[in-house]
Amino acid sequence: MLADCILILLTSLLFCISHGDVSYSFPEEMKRGSVIGNIVNDLGLQLSRLSTRKARIVVEGNRKRYCEINVETGDLAVADRIDREELCGAKMSCLLKCELVLEDPLESHRISLQIQDVNDNPPVFIKDIVKMEIRESAPKGSRYRINAAGDADIGQNAVQNYILQKNDYFALNVQTNSFGKKYSEIVLDRELDREEQHEMTLFLTAVDGGTPQRSGTAVIQITVLDANDNAPVFGQAVYEATLLENSHIDTVVVTVSATDIDEGVNGKVTYEFSGISGIAKEIFSLNERTGEITVGGNIDFEEESKFEMLIEGKDGDGLYSETKVVIDIIDVNDNAPVIHISSLANPIPENVSPGTEVGIINVQDADSENNGQVRCSIQQGAPFKLVPSIKNYYSLVTAGQLDRELVSDYNITITATDEGSPPLSSSKTVQLSVADINDNPPVFEEQSYSAYVSENNKPGSTLCSVTARDPDWRQNGTVIYSLLAGEVNGAPVSSYVSVNGDTGVIHALRSFDYEQFRSFKVHVMARDNGSPPLSSNVTVSVFISDVNDNSPQILYPAPEGNSFMTELVPKAAHGGSLVSKVIAVDADSGQNAWLSYHIVKSTDPGLFTIGVHSGEIRTQRDISESDSMKQNLIVAVKDNGQPSLSVTCSMYLLISDNLAEVPELKDISYDEKNSKLTSYLIIALVSVSTFFLTFIIIILGVRFCRRRKPRLLFDGAVAIPSAYLPPNYADVDPTGTLRSTYNYDAYLTTGSRTSDFKFVSSYNDNTLPADQTLRKSPSDFADAFQDSLETLEVGLF
Ligand SMILES: *[C@@H]1O[C@H](CO)[C@@H](O)[C@H](O)[C@H]1NC(C)=O
Ligand SMILES: *[C@@H]1O[C@H](CO)[C@@H](O)[C@H](O)[C@H]1NC(C)=O
Ligand SMILES: *[C@@H]1O[C@H](CO)[C@@H](O)[C@H](O)[C@H]1NC(C)=O
Repeated sequence: MLADCILILLTSLLFCISHGDVSYSFPEEMKRGSVIGNIVNDLGLQLSRLSTRKARIVVEGNRKRYCEINVETGDLAVADRIDREELCGAKMSCLLKCELVLEDPLESHRISLQIQDVNDNPPVFIKDIVKMEIRESAPKGSRYRINAAGDADIGQNAVQNYILQKNDYFALNVQTNSFGKKYSEIVLDRELDREEQHEMTLFLTAVDGGTPQRSGTAVIQITVLDANDNAPVFGQAVYEATLLENSHIDTVVVTVSATDIDEGVNGKVTYEFSGISGIAKEIFSLNERTGEITVGGNIDFEEESKFEMLIEGKDGDGLYSETKVVIDIIDVNDNAPVIHISSLANPIPENVSPGTEVGIINVQDADSENNGQVRCSIQQGAPFKLVPSIKNYYSLVTAGQLDRELVSDYNITITATDEGSPPLSSSKTVQLSVADINDNPPVFEEQSYSAYVSENNKPGSTLCSVTARDPDWRQNGTVIYSLLAGEVNGAPVSSYVSVNGDTGVIHALRSFDYEQFRSFKVHVMARDNGSPPLSSNVTVSVFISDVNDNSPQILYPAPEGNSFMTELVPKAAHGGSLVSKVIAVDADSGQNAWLSYHIVKSTDPGLFTIGVHSGEIRTQRDISESDSMKQNLIVAVKDNGQPSLSVTCSMYLLISDNLAEVPELKDISYDEKNSKLTSYLIIALVSVSTFFLTFIIIILGVRFCRRRKPRLLFDGAVAIPSAYLPPNYADVDPTGTLRSTYNYDAYLTTGSRTSDFKFVSSYNDNTLPADQTLRKSPSDFADAFQDSLETLEVGLF
């Protein structure tokens, strides 16, 4: 400080010397009272008179008094703060002019005060904080001007240099403008990266050249503006996802995400497919803002099981990157098995052996693994089974014997089930027909048939009808009826009956006569139309029933007019004695042949009586002497038919003990007057009687020997030779001989006649539809003939 003062004094002294008036040079901002110089000495004035001469300093103009004079010492001292910058600004020289005025005598001395600059002002930036925005993309070497810092001082004390605090990016370049002022530029020395550092603060210091040096600092705040220098980056190079097939629309599959560290639009990533198959494009949709991949269509594992796609993430300025998305579809059991009938033999002949393959079935399931494993089955109950063949193929084979007549159609339901969870199944129905084989012969509904017809039927009338059934199909089941060759009574059966080939109705071809034959058998064959044909036959028994078409025939006595037979009645006969017997037969049977005997006229009505059914003539009382010797009876024989038929005969009786009275026979004949004839008659009678007796004895002897049990119930001597029997009465058996039963019946007539009514137990009137057929059940017959059955025990004798 002291040295400073000395220096200032020296310079101000030098200054004074160079000017006439006194001149001082001194630095600004001296303390008040600081002595600038001793003006008394410098001007050569008398110190002692200073106060008396009222020495004073007058400043030019009406300005502040910066200095004053100490009248005691004659020193010029600083009276007020002198600020060069205030007084002179930026002027290089700052001269403050004032006068020393003395009175008595008035004297004026000019004083020049040269104010020297002192570095009392620091450089100052206009703004303490400089805000700048620099795009990160700014190239290296870019310059950014910073406004110059100001410094009120001048010269060396003004801003001489700038200093930039050390940093990574900027260098400093100091320039001088056309006004000679120094300013600075910051120069980009290294490229900015907003992503690394988006803001930075630089300190720029301006320094002056004064001593001591002063400085001022500005803060440069740099905001790094973004440039699109970063592409989006995906989180994963490959995104893998699995997805169930049939996932619903809008199911989120996976979300891809790319980040872009840039800012704003530059960092805003949008997504889009950059590589995708057409099918995937229809199925998946991508949210371009969020990167979410969702299901937008129907996913079918069976169509596509894996999807690969490329997704591009792009920022606002078009920078992009790609990622890959792999989506594996997981199979869901969504496909039911499908059944295909590869081949089918339809219809199947019913005679195929069990195990025959009738069809091939193929099953397919579009699903994979277990979901596509299929089991196949058919319903129980049908004679078929499925036999697994090569993969997915099954043979449908018969499991038993088929019978079209039992089941002609099968609806076989094949069910296929896969092994998914839950399993899916489907079924298919196959219709199988069984083809006919002619394996059934026609079968008659009855084991045998019986037809009943009254004799004297009209030719062409229906006897009965036979029916045979054949369950086979069409011609294999079409039944044709025909007669089997045979004979009836030596004539071909076809001359008696005919059968309608289509209907099985049997017609009579001629009128039948019960008295000729009572029944015959016909064999009817039923044949189907198959190839070869099958047939069966049945027996039809035709029973002819009797009609009362024959009158009784009197065998004994001989018919009226042709006989002179006379019975002798002993005079001693008692009442009840058998005297004779009328013998009659009827070719009909049953009631029609049940004969009754009545005496319609007699010589002595009280004497004889006749057994209604036996025809035996007995005395009613003892013969007396008064009774006429010749007795004449007229006997009517009636059958029991409806209407009944009858015949009469005459019986001559002679009450006598010997033939000596024969001459009187002449009187017996009621119309005969011829005596010659009478004697002939007697002779004939005697000879015939003798002949008869002999004959009867021989016959009886023969029969007695043949039969062990003769049932002769009459004690009379009357017998009828077989020659008397009407020829049609005898039934001739196939051997051509008289059947002994009929002989017996004819002769003896006391046995049962039930054999005339042979009821066929299997008779069934349902099978006789034709209107002319006899509609009788066994009970009908039983009713009609009940009486005769009971009474037929009574014989002819
Ligand atoms: C089989 O199915 C057909 C048609 O569905 C039907 O007409 C027929 O009666 C069925 N057959 C059997 C044996 O069930
Ligand atoms: C009848 O059966 C034969 C085999 O016996 C067979 O070949 C034929 O087709 C069958 N006819 C009909 C119409 O079913
Ligand atoms: C009639 O059928 C029987 C068995 O029912 C058989 O023995 C006989 O040979 C058949 N006759 C004819 C001519 O077919």
